[in-house]
Amino acid sequence: MTPESSASIPFEHCDAPAATLTVGTRVLPTHYCLAPLAGYTHLAFRRALREVGGLGLATTDLVHATQLVGGHRHSLELIETHPEDRPLSVQIFSGRDEHLISAARWLQDRGYEGVDINMGCPMAKVNGQGGGARLLCDADHASRLVEQVVNAVSIPVTVKMRLGWDRDTIASPMLARRFESVGVAAITIHGRTRQQGFHGQVDLAGIQATVEAVERIPVIGNGDVRSVEDALHMRRVTGCAAVAIGRGAMLDPWLFRKIEDYEAGRPVREPTSDEQVDFLARHFHLMTEQHGDRSCFLFRKFAAWYGARLGVPEDLEQRLRLFTSHAEFDEIIAEIRQRHGERRTSVATALVKVPNGPVERW
Ligand SMILES: Cc1cc2nc3c(=O)[nH]c(=O)nc-3n(C[C@H](O)[C@H](O)[C@H](O)COP(=O)(O)O)c2cc1C
Repeated sequence: MTPESSASIPFEHCDAPAATLTVGTRVLPTHYCLAPLAGYTHLAFRRALREVGGLGLATTDLVHATQLVGGHRHSLELIETHPEDRPLSVQIFSGRDEHLISAARWLQDRGYEGVDINMGCPMAKVNGQGGGARLLCDADHASRLVEQVVNAVSIPVTVKMRLGWDRDTIASPMLARRFESVGVAAITIHGRTRQQGFHGQVDLAGIQATVEAVERIPVIGNGDVRSVEDALHMRRVTGCAAVAIGRGAMLDPWLFRKIEDYEAGRPVREPTSDEQVDFLARHFHLMTEQHGDRSCFLFRKFAAWYGARLGVPEDLEQRLRLFTSHAEFDEIIAEIRQRHGERRTSVATALVKVPNGPVERW
Protein backbone atom coordinates (compact mmCIF):
# COMPACT_ATOMS: atom_id res chain seq x y z
CA MET A 1 0.00 0.00 0.00
CA THR A 2 1.40 3.41 -0.85
CA PRO A 3 1.43 5.93 1.99
CA GLU A 4 -1.17 8.13 0.34
CA SER A 5 -3.64 5.39 -0.55
CA SER A 6 -6.75 4.71 1.47
CA ALA A 7 -6.76 1.58 3.54
CA SER A 8 -9.98 -0.34 3.62
CA ILE A 9 -10.74 -1.80 6.99
CA PRO A 10 -11.72 -5.43 6.65
CA PHE A 11 -14.00 -5.33 9.63
CA GLU A 12 -17.71 -5.12 10.07
CA HIS A 13 -18.77 -1.69 11.27
CA CYS A 14 -18.63 -1.38 15.05
CA ASP A 15 -22.12 -1.07 16.45
CA ALA A 16 -20.91 0.25 19.80
CA PRO A 17 -23.07 3.20 20.87
CA ALA A 18 -21.70 6.51 19.66
CA ALA A 19 -22.61 8.21 22.98
CA THR A 20 -19.97 10.61 24.26
CA LEU A 21 -17.60 9.27 26.82
CA THR A 22 -17.84 10.93 30.21
CA VAL A 23 -15.49 10.36 33.10
CA GLY A 24 -17.09 11.92 36.14
CA THR A 25 -17.71 15.51 35.12
CA ARG A 26 -15.39 15.35 32.12
CA VAL A 27 -16.72 14.88 28.62
CA LEU A 28 -14.06 13.38 26.38
CA PRO A 29 -13.77 14.12 22.67
CA THR A 30 -13.33 10.48 21.61
CA HIS A 31 -13.46 6.97 23.08
CA TYR A 32 -9.75 6.35 22.46
CA CYS A 33 -7.24 7.22 25.15
CA LEU A 34 -3.48 7.23 25.43
CA ALA A 35 -2.20 4.64 27.94
CA PRO A 36 0.84 5.92 29.82
CA LEU A 37 4.24 4.58 28.75
CA ALA A 38 6.81 5.89 31.22
CA GLY A 39 9.64 7.53 29.35
CA TYR A 40 7.71 7.93 26.11
CA THR A 41 4.31 9.58 26.58
CA HIS A 42 5.75 12.87 27.78
CA LEU A 43 4.32 16.32 27.09
CA ALA A 44 5.95 16.77 23.67
CA PHE A 45 4.72 13.40 22.43
CA ARG A 46 1.21 14.01 23.77
CA ARG A 47 1.02 17.41 22.08
CA ALA A 48 2.30 16.07 18.77
CA LEU A 49 -0.24 13.25 19.00
CA ARG A 50 -3.11 15.60 19.79
CA GLU A 51 -2.24 17.71 16.77
CA VAL A 52 -2.65 14.64 14.56
CA GLY A 53 -6.16 14.17 15.99
CA GLY A 54 -8.51 11.55 17.38
CA LEU A 55 -7.18 11.36 20.94
CA GLY A 56 -9.67 11.28 23.82
CA LEU A 57 -7.92 11.35 27.19
CA ALA A 58 -4.18 11.26 27.81
CA THR A 59 -2.54 10.29 31.09
CA THR A 60 0.93 11.29 32.26
CA ASP A 61 3.61 8.73 33.04
CA LEU A 62 3.33 7.39 36.54
CA VAL A 63 4.49 9.96 39.08
CA HIS A 64 5.82 9.12 42.54
CA ALA A 65 3.27 10.74 44.89
CA THR A 66 5.77 11.44 47.68
CA GLN A 67 8.31 12.98 45.35
CA LEU A 68 5.66 15.08 43.67
CA VAL A 69 4.50 16.66 46.87
CA GLY A 70 8.15 17.02 47.92
CA GLY A 71 8.77 19.06 44.77
CA HIS A 72 11.32 16.75 43.13
CA ARG A 73 12.41 18.12 39.78
CA HIS A 74 11.76 14.94 37.81
CA SER A 75 8.22 14.59 39.15
CA LEU A 76 7.45 18.23 38.39
CA GLU A 77 8.73 17.73 34.87
CA LEU A 78 6.48 14.70 34.40
CA ILE A 79 3.37 16.70 35.25
CA GLU A 80 4.26 19.70 33.07
CA THR A 81 1.44 20.42 30.70
CA HIS A 82 0.17 23.00 28.23
CA PRO A 83 -3.28 24.46 27.39
CA GLU A 84 -3.30 22.23 24.28
CA ASP A 85 -2.54 19.16 26.39
CA ARG A 86 -6.18 18.58 27.36
CA PRO A 87 -7.94 16.51 28.52
CA LEU A 88 -5.22 15.14 30.79
CA SER A 89 -5.08 13.02 33.92
CA VAL A 90 -2.03 12.70 36.13
CA GLN A 91 -1.17 9.19 37.21
CA ILE A 92 0.22 8.79 40.72
CA PHE A 93 1.58 5.82 42.63
CA SER A 94 2.68 5.10 46.15
CA GLY A 95 2.53 2.40 48.78
CA ARG A 96 1.65 5.07 51.37
CA ASP A 97 -2.02 6.01 51.46
CA GLU A 98 -1.46 9.42 52.99
CA HIS A 99 1.01 10.31 50.23
CA LEU A 100 -1.46 9.41 47.50
CA ILE A 101 -4.13 11.49 49.21
CA SER A 102 -1.80 14.49 49.57
CA ALA A 103 -0.67 14.20 45.96
CA ALA A 104 -4.27 14.14 44.71
CA ARG A 105 -5.06 17.28 46.72
CA TRP A 106 -1.82 18.91 45.58
CA LEU A 107 -2.77 18.28 41.93
CA GLN A 108 -6.30 19.56 42.39
CA ASP A 109 -5.02 22.73 44.06
CA ARG A 110 -2.85 23.40 41.02
CA GLY A 111 -5.69 23.06 38.54
CA TYR A 112 -5.23 19.49 37.30
CA GLU A 113 -8.52 18.00 36.18
CA GLY A 114 -8.15 14.30 36.88
CA VAL A 115 -6.13 11.87 38.98
CA ASP A 116 -5.41 8.28 38.04
CA ILE A 117 -4.17 5.78 40.63
CA ASN A 118 -1.68 3.21 39.34
CA MET A 119 -2.54 -0.36 40.33
CA GLY A 120 -0.86 -2.05 37.40
CA CYS A 121 2.85 -1.36 37.54
CA PRO A 122 4.68 -4.71 37.83
CA MET A 123 8.10 -3.33 38.74
CA ALA A 124 9.67 -4.61 41.96
CA LYS A 125 10.73 -1.18 43.17
CA VAL A 126 7.07 -0.06 43.02
CA ASN A 127 5.49 -3.31 44.24
CA GLY A 128 8.07 -3.67 47.01
CA GLN A 129 6.77 -0.46 48.59
CA GLY A 130 3.18 -1.71 48.35
CA GLY A 131 2.28 0.36 45.28
CA GLY A 132 1.29 -0.46 41.68
CA ALA A 133 -0.01 -3.97 41.11
CA ARG A 134 0.70 -4.95 44.73
CA LEU A 135 -2.50 -3.11 45.67
CA LEU A 136 -4.47 -5.75 43.76
CA CYS A 137 -3.57 -8.25 46.47
CA ASP A 138 -5.53 -6.62 49.27
CA ALA A 139 -9.00 -5.61 48.16
CA ASP A 140 -10.02 -4.07 51.50
CA HIS A 141 -6.96 -1.89 51.64
CA ALA A 142 -7.24 -0.90 47.96
CA SER A 143 -10.91 0.08 48.36
CA ARG A 144 -10.25 2.09 51.50
CA LEU A 145 -7.38 3.85 49.80
CA VAL A 146 -9.41 4.69 46.71
CA GLU A 147 -12.30 5.90 48.85
CA GLN A 148 -10.00 8.23 50.78
CA VAL A 149 -8.55 9.71 47.59
CA VAL A 150 -12.04 10.15 46.09
CA ASN A 151 -13.22 11.91 49.26
CA ALA A 152 -10.16 14.14 49.39
CA VAL A 153 -10.78 15.84 46.02
CA SER A 154 -13.66 16.95 43.82
CA ILE A 155 -11.94 16.16 40.49
CA PRO A 156 -12.60 12.72 38.99
CA VAL A 157 -10.44 9.90 40.34
CA THR A 158 -9.79 6.89 38.11
CA VAL A 159 -7.85 3.65 38.57
CA LYS A 160 -5.67 1.80 36.07
CA MET A 161 -5.16 -1.81 36.99
CA ARG A 162 -4.38 -5.30 35.77
CA LEU A 163 -6.61 -8.38 35.98
CA GLY A 164 -4.95 -9.51 39.20
CA TRP A 165 -1.59 -10.50 40.63
CA ASP A 166 -1.58 -13.87 38.86
CA ARG A 167 -4.11 -16.11 37.18
CA ASP A 168 -5.08 -17.73 40.48
CA THR A 169 -5.96 -14.41 42.04
CA ILE A 170 -8.01 -12.60 39.39
CA ALA A 171 -9.41 -9.59 41.21
CA SER A 172 -10.40 -6.94 38.68
CA PRO A 173 -14.18 -7.63 38.48
CA MET A 174 -14.55 -7.55 42.26
CA LEU A 175 -12.25 -4.55 42.63
CA ALA A 176 -13.98 -2.64 39.83
CA ARG A 177 -17.32 -3.10 41.58
CA ARG A 178 -15.90 -1.96 44.89
CA PHE A 179 -14.11 1.03 43.37
CA GLU A 180 -17.32 2.08 41.65
CA SER A 181 -19.19 1.90 44.91
CA VAL A 182 -16.71 4.28 46.58
CA GLY A 183 -16.93 6.82 43.78
CA VAL A 184 -14.28 6.09 41.16
CA ALA A 185 -15.15 7.75 37.84
CA ALA A 186 -13.65 5.17 35.44
CA ILE A 187 -11.40 2.15 35.36
CA THR A 188 -8.75 1.27 32.81
CA ILE A 189 -8.08 -2.43 32.70
CA HIS A 190 -4.95 -3.88 31.12
CA GLY A 191 -5.99 -7.44 30.28
CA ARG A 192 -2.96 -9.16 31.80
CA THR A 193 -1.97 -10.21 35.29
CA ARG A 194 1.07 -8.85 37.07
CA GLN A 195 2.65 -12.28 36.71
CA GLN A 196 2.35 -12.04 32.93
CA GLY A 197 4.22 -8.77 32.76
CA PHE A 198 3.92 -7.94 29.08
CA HIS A 199 3.99 -11.57 27.89
CA GLY A 200 1.22 -13.59 26.35
CA GLN A 201 -1.89 -12.26 24.75
CA VAL A 202 -4.24 -9.76 26.28
CA ASP A 203 -7.24 -11.55 27.83
CA LEU A 204 -10.36 -10.03 26.33
CA ALA A 205 -12.61 -12.26 28.45
CA GLY A 206 -10.93 -10.82 31.55
CA ILE A 207 -11.65 -7.31 30.34
CA GLN A 208 -15.24 -8.29 29.56
CA ALA A 209 -15.74 -9.68 33.06
CA THR A 210 -14.53 -6.36 34.48
CA VAL A 211 -16.87 -4.41 32.20
CA GLU A 212 -19.79 -6.56 33.30
CA ALA A 213 -18.98 -6.13 36.97
CA VAL A 214 -19.73 -2.40 37.08
CA GLU A 215 -23.07 -0.68 36.77
CA ARG A 216 -22.49 2.82 35.47
CA ILE A 217 -18.90 3.92 35.17
CA PRO A 218 -16.95 3.50 31.94
CA VAL A 219 -14.41 0.72 31.75
CA ILE A 220 -11.54 1.43 29.39
CA GLY A 221 -10.05 -1.72 27.85
CA ASN A 222 -6.31 -1.86 27.30
CA GLY A 223 -3.67 -4.10 25.82
CA ASP A 224 -2.18 -4.98 22.44
CA VAL A 225 -4.29 -2.61 20.35
CA ARG A 226 -2.17 -1.82 17.29
CA SER A 227 -4.73 -1.11 14.58
CA VAL A 228 -8.20 0.24 13.92
CA GLU A 229 -9.45 -3.34 13.72
CA ASP A 230 -7.93 -4.21 17.10
CA ALA A 231 -9.58 -1.20 18.76
CA LEU A 232 -13.02 -1.93 17.34
CA HIS A 233 -12.62 -5.63 18.08
CA MET A 234 -11.81 -4.92 21.72
CA ARG A 235 -14.89 -2.75 22.10
CA ARG A 236 -17.15 -5.21 20.34
CA VAL A 237 -15.94 -8.32 22.17
CA THR A 238 -15.61 -6.88 25.66
CA GLY A 239 -18.30 -4.17 25.60
CA CYS A 240 -15.79 -1.70 27.04
CA ALA A 241 -16.82 1.95 26.77
CA ALA A 242 -13.42 3.08 25.52
CA VAL A 243 -9.98 1.81 24.64
CA ALA A 244 -6.57 2.92 25.91
CA ILE A 245 -3.66 2.51 23.51
CA GLY A 246 -0.02 2.62 24.63
CA ARG A 247 2.60 0.96 22.43
CA GLY A 248 0.27 1.10 19.43
CA ALA A 249 0.32 4.90 19.65
CA MET A 250 4.11 4.93 19.58
CA LEU A 251 4.21 2.57 16.64
CA ASP A 252 1.53 4.46 14.77
CA PRO A 253 0.89 8.01 16.02
CA TRP A 254 -1.82 8.27 13.33
CA LEU A 255 -3.84 5.44 14.88
CA PHE A 256 -6.24 7.70 16.82
CA ARG A 257 -6.93 9.75 13.73
CA LYS A 258 -7.51 6.60 11.70
CA ILE A 259 -10.04 5.29 14.22
CA GLU A 260 -11.81 8.64 14.30
CA ASP A 261 -11.94 8.77 10.49
CA TYR A 262 -13.21 5.23 10.33
CA GLU A 263 -15.96 5.86 12.84
CA ALA A 264 -16.98 9.04 11.03
CA GLY A 265 -17.25 7.12 7.76
CA ARG A 266 -14.29 8.96 6.23
CA PRO A 267 -11.57 7.16 4.30
CA VAL A 268 -8.82 5.83 6.53
CA ARG A 269 -5.45 6.79 5.15
CA GLU A 270 -1.83 6.33 6.01
CA PRO A 271 0.19 9.51 6.66
CA THR A 272 2.04 10.92 3.68
CA SER A 273 5.85 10.97 3.71
CA ASP A 274 5.76 14.66 4.57
CA GLU A 275 3.34 14.11 7.44
CA GLN A 276 5.63 11.44 8.86
CA VAL A 277 8.73 13.60 8.79
CA ASP A 278 6.71 16.59 10.05
CA PHE A 279 5.69 14.51 13.06
CA LEU A 280 9.30 13.70 13.87
CA ALA A 281 10.30 17.37 13.58
CA ARG A 282 7.29 18.56 15.57
CA HIS A 283 8.05 16.09 18.36
CA PHE A 284 11.57 17.46 18.62
CA HIS A 285 10.49 21.11 18.52
CA LEU A 286 7.90 20.55 21.22
CA MET A 287 10.55 18.82 23.31
CA THR A 288 12.75 21.86 22.84
CA GLU A 289 9.95 24.13 24.07
CA GLN A 290 9.99 22.19 27.31
CA HIS A 291 13.64 21.22 27.73
CA GLY A 292 15.66 23.72 25.67
CA ASP A 293 19.03 22.41 24.47
CA ARG A 294 18.68 19.28 26.60
CA SER A 295 16.19 18.04 23.99
CA CYS A 296 19.11 17.18 21.64
CA PHE A 297 20.20 14.63 24.20
CA LEU A 298 16.71 13.51 25.22
CA PHE A 299 15.66 12.91 21.62
CA ARG A 300 18.33 10.24 21.11
CA LYS A 301 16.10 7.68 22.73
CA PHE A 302 13.68 8.05 19.83
CA ALA A 303 16.24 7.68 17.03
CA ALA A 304 15.85 3.93 16.61
CA TRP A 305 12.09 4.15 16.75
CA TYR A 306 11.84 6.88 14.14
CA GLY A 307 14.50 5.14 12.09
CA ALA A 308 12.40 2.04 11.80
CA ARG A 309 9.02 3.77 11.80
CA LEU A 310 9.84 6.20 9.06
CA GLY A 311 12.30 4.17 7.05
CA VAL A 312 15.10 6.64 7.85
CA PRO A 313 18.36 5.38 6.30
CA GLU A 314 20.77 3.94 8.90
CA ASP A 315 23.38 6.69 8.57
CA LEU A 316 20.74 9.35 9.25
CA GLU A 317 19.33 7.35 12.14
CA GLN A 318 22.83 7.30 13.58
CA ARG A 319 23.08 11.08 13.17
CA LEU A 320 19.73 11.45 14.97
CA ARG A 321 21.41 9.62 17.83
CA LEU A 322 24.38 11.96 17.99
CA PHE A 323 23.32 15.46 16.98
CA THR A 324 24.12 18.24 19.39
CA SER A 325 22.49 21.37 17.96
CA HIS A 326 19.25 22.55 16.43
CA ALA A 327 21.03 23.52 13.23
CA GLU A 328 22.32 19.99 12.92
CA PHE A 329 18.83 18.61 13.54
CA ASP A 330 17.47 20.78 10.72
CA GLU A 331 20.15 19.48 8.36
CA ILE A 332 19.28 15.89 9.24
CA ILE A 333 15.59 16.55 8.68
CA ALA A 334 16.26 18.09 5.27
CA GLU A 335 18.19 14.99 4.29
CA ILE A 336 15.55 12.66 5.68
CA ARG A 337 12.96 14.42 3.52
CA GLN A 338 15.07 13.73 0.44
CA ARG A 339 15.89 10.14 1.25
CA HIS A 340 12.74 9.13 3.13
CA GLY A 341 11.62 5.61 2.30
CA GLU A 342 15.08 4.57 1.08
CA ARG A 343 15.19 2.05 3.88
CA ARG A 344 12.38 -0.47 3.99
CA THR A 345 11.63 -1.68 7.49
CA SER A 346 8.73 -2.99 9.40
CA VAL A 347 8.28 -1.74 12.92
CA ALA A 348 8.64 -4.25 15.72
CA THR A 349 6.75 -3.79 18.97
CA ALA A 350 10.01 -4.58 20.72
CA LEU A 351 11.19 -1.08 19.87
CA VAL A 352 9.17 0.09 22.84
CA LYS A 353 11.28 -1.66 25.44
CA VAL A 354 9.61 -3.74 28.10
CA PRO A 355 11.53 -5.19 31.05
CA ASN A 356 13.47 -8.39 30.34
CA GLY A 357 13.79 -11.65 32.25
CA PRO A 358 11.48 -13.29 34.77
CA VAL A 359 8.87 -10.93 36.18
CA GLU A 360 9.99 -11.78 39.76
CA ARG A 361 13.23 -9.90 39.10
CA TRP A 362 11.77 -6.74 37.53
C1 LIG B 1 7.70 1.14 28.52
C2 LIG B 1 6.37 1.07 29.22
C3 LIG B 1 6.07 1.98 30.21
C4 LIG B 1 4.83 1.94 30.87
N1 LIG B 1 4.54 2.86 31.81
C5 LIG B 1 3.32 2.85 32.42
C6 LIG B 1 2.97 3.84 33.38
O1 LIG B 1 3.72 4.77 33.67
N2 LIG B 1 1.74 3.73 33.96
C7 LIG B 1 0.86 2.73 33.65
O2 LIG B 1 -0.25 2.68 34.20
N3 LIG B 1 1.17 1.80 32.74
C8 LIG B 1 2.36 1.85 32.11
N4 LIG B 1 2.65 0.92 31.16
C9 LIG B 1 1.61 -0.04 30.76
C10 LIG B 1 0.81 0.52 29.57
O3 LIG B 1 0.10 1.69 29.94
C11 LIG B 1 -0.19 -0.50 29.03
O4 LIG B 1 -1.06 -0.87 30.08
C12 LIG B 1 0.46 -1.73 28.46
O5 LIG B 1 1.61 -1.40 27.71
C13 LIG B 1 -0.50 -2.52 27.57
O6 LIG B 1 -1.07 -1.68 26.59
P1 LIG B 1 -0.45 -1.52 25.09
O7 LIG B 1 -0.34 -2.89 24.51
O8 LIG B 1 -1.45 -0.65 24.38
O9 LIG B 1 0.89 -0.88 25.23
C14 LIG B 1 3.88 0.93 30.52
C15 LIG B 1 4.20 0.02 29.52
C16 LIG B 1 5.42 0.07 28.87
C17 LIG B 1 5.73 -0.92 27.77
